[in-house]
Amino acid sequence: MGYHAGAWEPETYIEMNNNDPDRKKDIICGCSGTTTAQIKKQIDKGIEDLESISRATGACSGCGACDTDILALIAEYISSVSRNAD
Ligand code: FES
Repeated sequence: MGYHAGAWEPETYIEMNNNDPDRKKDIICGCSGTTTAQIKKQIDKGIEDLESISRATGACSGCGACDTDILALIAEYISSVSRNAD
């Protein structure tokens, strides 16, 4: 109840981070403003499940409409990384 300093404020977060047009194009979760680059960075750290990525980035913590896009990104990125490793 009430405002807590440091509480998750998606609209403020998006406003703060949407000034960069390249970043805007890369957003995969409109609620949190999370970009595909942020998710790929988590995967590079070995975090590959939606729940952990959500905790780390804020993605998929609002309406949930981005879950299938994020799951597809995770699968596609892991596949591309393993292909490049061969
Ligand atoms: S678009 Fe990601 S939670 Fe709403």
